[in-house]
Amino acid sequence: MMNKAAPKKQAEKGVNTSQIYALMKKAKSYENHIALGRGDPDFDTPEPVLTRTEELLSRSKPASIPVEGIPELRKAIAERVERMNGIKVDPDTEVIVTNGGQEALFLMVQSVIEKDDEIILPEPNYNTYKDAINFAGGIRVGVPTKREESFRADPRLVEEAVTSRTRAIVLASPNNPSGAVISPKDHRAFVAMAERHNLKILSDEIYDFFVYDDFEHLSPATLPGARKRTITLNAVSKMYAMTGWRTGWLVGEAALIEPIKRLKATINGGTSLISQLGALSALQTDDSVPLEMKKALVRRRAIVMQGLDRINIPYGIPQGGQFIFADISRLKMGSLAFCEWILENCQVLLYPGATYGADFDDSLRITFLQNESKLEDAMNRIEGLFKKEGLC
Ligand SMILES: Cc1ncc(COP(=O)(O)O)c(C=O)c1O
Repeated sequence: MMNKAAPKKQAEKGVNTSQIYALMKKAKSYENHIALGRGDPDFDTPEPVLTRTEELLSRSKPASIPVEGIPELRKAIAERVERMNGIKVDPDTEVIVTNGGQEALFLMVQSVIEKDDEIILPEPNYNTYKDAINFAGGIRVGVPTKREESFRADPRLVEEAVTSRTRAIVLASPNNPSGAVISPKDHRAFVAMAERHNLKILSDEIYDFFVYDDFEHLSPATLPGARKRTITLNAVSKMYAMTGWRTGWLVGEAALIEPIKRLKATINGGTSLISQLGALSALQTDDSVPLEMKKALVRRRAIVMQGLDRINIPYGIPQGGQFIFADISRLKMGSLAFCEWILENCQVLLYPGATYGADFDDSLRITFLQNESKLEDAMNRIEGLFKKEGLC
């Protein structure tokens, strides 16, 4: 462990949520706009999930809901964990159902830090982590990654950032916004490092089903010695296109889940029964619909990558997830100004890299959550503008 002065709270520069909302509002004012900003799936919630939810609802007795979630759903989550990750978890004590991945994220962060504690976050990363850490009065210690290395989080650099105040490390794989997938070798290095420094691992696996090419998903909780220190986050939002149903969950040993349960009881009690039955229905369907989604995402990823190649904008090839993080440094514009320029001239909404931290003002995030013809159209519009301005 490095013996160095604790990092100061970082003044958040970057682009804030209000600026993003203003950008989204402006996009909506154009009738022909194509939104490649937000990360909500454009697919419909699968039909079998809707039918099954109605069926379950008509038979349900919604008198009271346990804070940790209905037993049937916790059992289905434990079965999914066993099927996807190959470990057994006890649905009675090791699973808690939450209001989407977002509440899961907030609860797990609050449960591992107190004021002035540090959490290490390889960056870029999902922007809500910084808000959740700030809320707890904690300190976010960012560890940079590089586009040329496909945004790989380097365990060596992460370990260099550990101090006596470090309590946890966030491992999000596949990553939002970079699409990076942590390799099994790096996961093993992170687990060993967490053991050396007695750190919690917060493993965000919300995109676990969407891993491409030869990359593989590995849940660090499955590695020897990791279970006692790992809290794993997931949700139905992405894999089943169910963002609006608001159902997520956390899995971990009882000692890690128990404080989260107490926190959730104070905030809002159990998750809405309707949301839980929706998630239960999703987990009881086979994987044919998400498999089709995954194939569509691979085709869409190719369209965006080819479009970026045509305008000479470099990017890290997404190994998973639903996003491409591209490098606009050669344009010498801030990322918000760039996105406004593209929106005004092409009516295409992109997200400024500075949303993910002030260090990423030379980047942008493009989601591939529109159908193929819309994506082609968006990339052609941008190419047209670049050509007109002599930029490619
Ligand atoms: C990495 C990551 N974690 C958590 C969440 C929150 O998910 P939910 O939509 O289920 O609240 C998101 C949402 O985009 C995400 O990208």
